[in-house]
Amino acid sequence: MQKSKFLNIVLATAVLVLAILLAAKNDPSTMRKKSTSIASEGAQPSASDSAYVPFKKRSLGVRAELHPKPAAVIGTYDKDGKPNIMTAAWIGISNSDPLSIAVSMRPATYSYGNVTESKAFTVNIPSADMVRYVDYAGRFSGRDVDKFKETGLTPVRAEFVNAPYVKEFPIVIECELTAIHELGSHRQFIGKIIDVKADESILDADGKVDMALLNPLIYADGKYYESGDFVAEAGESLHEIDGLPYVPANRKKYVNQTLKVIHNRKSVRHFTDQAVSKEQIEILLRAGMAAPTAVNRQPWVFYVVTKRETLDALGKQLPYAKMLLQAQAAIVVCGDMEKAGNLKEQAYWVQDCSAATQNILLAAESIGLGAVWTAAFPYDDRTKVVIETLSLPEKHVPLNVIPIGYPTGEDQPKDKWKPENVFWYNQAGSPL
Ligand SMILES: Cc1cc2nc3c(=O)[nH]c(=O)nc-3n(C[C@H](O)[C@H](O)[C@H](O)COP(=O)(O)O)c2cc1C
Repeated sequence: MQKSKFLNIVLATAVLVLAILLAAKNDPSTMRKKSTSIASEGAQPSASDSAYVPFKKRSLGVRAELHPKPAAVIGTYDKDGKPNIMTAAWIGISNSDPLSIAVSMRPATYSYGNVTESKAFTVNIPSADMVRYVDYAGRFSGRDVDKFKETGLTPVRAEFVNAPYVKEFPIVIECELTAIHELGSHRQFIGKIIDVKADESILDADGKVDMALLNPLIYADGKYYESGDFVAEAGESLHEIDGLPYVPANRKKYVNQTLKVIHNRKSVRHFTDQAVSKEQIEILLRAGMAAPTAVNRQPWVFYVVTKRETLDALGKQLPYAKMLLQAQAAIVVCGDMEKAGNLKEQAYWVQDCSAATQNILLAAESIGLGAVWTAAFPYDDRTKVVIETLSLPEKHVPLNVIPIGYPTGEDQPKDKWKPENVFWYNQAGSPL
């Protein structure tokens, strides 16, 4: 009896092992592993490649992970005509025709009653630097405080609907209530857009809103961001109210590609040994020749040096251009005294060649290269070194030598913005 029981167990185990082996043969994950290993013989990534990370999702449950969320400010009048603002992140475009906005409000908010009564609201879109107004309008209730008075913001009666908008906010959207949806915790108000007003200062040349100039505020999970960058913790900008200092972030980031390049440009003095192509150098030269030039004289010529011995010879002799020993190429920007014109116009060659140089430096930054302006003119000893090493004709006076190569990443841009260097004058000529 004992023996037959033992045999039954052995038999059952054998069947189970066989079933597992068969199942494994048809298991898609085993098959994928197989095909992955075959693919790895070719160009496909294999599981052993460090870059190959299979997607792995984790359930977070029921959460408001819809990103990015705007942080808008809703303007309403109460029954006595007092203007109020409240912050709303549960908001979005909800229909195209008629173009409508949906905003959800809790019954506890003062604004909820206001919209229900007045059947209108404005949506005021802030720039990221207005975070403290947004924070304030979302912390306090119009039932207890006059938020316009407390913030110093200016209420303006909307042109087409019975609601106030915030004068200082760059975009205001006037909405007329067209539907209400009871959703549970919130009542969703649907507002048909009657008019949109935007500050001219955030419009591009085509009259469209420039996102870089608007720099809208983004809200997510108790934090504010700009352009995807963290700005402040919710409530942080109200520290003053809590008796703590509020230190606004003193930095500026750009979405506009040109401004990004201008502000990311740095003097690159450390290069890798990666080669620089003729096509890349030509891009830089074209940018140089696109510079403004007095009476269109274009009093410039450009010598391109790529020979190792010549780069090294210049680097050894020029006291502030040692990085030429690492650079893959150099452009020598020269003034052409024959093209420079008469005595008066000749005085412009330095400005013109300087503008060309700056264009070259910016173009280098824009295509991932590094470069640095090393002066030759007005130093006699340095210009002599360049003239002799490159056997320049007398009419070509070198303004500078620009070493070029791929940056190692050691050199970083500097923030040179100093408001104290700027004097704003109003039209009457007196300081603002
Ligand atoms: C970033 C942020 C987003 C908010 N979003 C909403 C929202 O979508 N709906 C809502 O009812 N309350 C929202 N609130 C809370 C209200 O703004 C807050 O209750 C406010 O005090 C209401 O003002 P009121 O009573 O003057 O209308 C938000 C607050 C903050 C700070």
